[in-house]
Amino acid sequence: MVKISPSLLSADFSCLGKEVEEITKSGADLIHFDVMDGHFVPNLTFGPMILSSIRKFSNLPFQAHLMITNPEKYWRDFANSGADIIGIHIECKIPHRKLIEEIKNYGKKVCLVINPPTSVDEIVPFLEIINEVLVMSVNPGFGGQKFIADVVPKIEKLNNIKTQKKLDFDIEVDGGINNETAKIVKKAGVNIVVAGSYIFSSKNYKKAIESLR
Ligand code: DX5
Ligand code: ZN
Repeated sequence: MVKISPSLLSADFSCLGKEVEEITKSGADLIHFDVMDGHFVPNLTFGPMILSSIRKFSNLPFQAHLMITNPEKYWRDFANSGADIIGIHIECKIPHRKLIEEIKNYGKKVCLVINPPTSVDEIVPFLEIINEVLVMSVNPGFGGQKFIADVVPKIEKLNNIKTQKKLDFDIEVDGGINNETAKIVKKAGVNIVVAGSYIFSSKNYKKAIESLR
């Protein structure tokens, strides 16, 4: 069954702890924490201090999606604040292999994130050593954008490679997910969907999560 990872980007920041508690009770499988630095993407969000302050409101795994230019400088701060999965963009100019090994040796899971214009070929060399691929279905920076259907063949390609090589990384999608687009990506092979505005703008989080599943 597909797992649901609500993105806190669309939560009510004035009561973030309560939102985390509520979304956990509503059947979420993971919590998605979008970190933006105003440089890698044209928006700013939250840092590790916020993560550690909300960590106690849920026992679910937290995924830090680092939309930042220098993840090599900051990933440890997120790991120490309670992130279980560290998401690093393949577009960052960093030594990915070295960073992946460091994060795994630190006892955390690694997710490689790929933007809509980037080819899947860029991440193929890493598929054997990572836990997860996050396929962006919007250009990162903002919640509430429209799903980019052009990424669907990328999901299918990843899923084929996964089957052919008998690998066990998760395939996750992020951006513009609602009850309609969720069907498309599930069919293409994702097993985790991130959804922000669809869940948090609904009156009933539980129902919204169920409708995605
Ligand atoms: C975009 C973020 C997403 C986003 C998802 O930069 O990485 O996680 O918040 O929001 P929706 O589901 O509203 O597209
Ligand atoms: Zn995200």
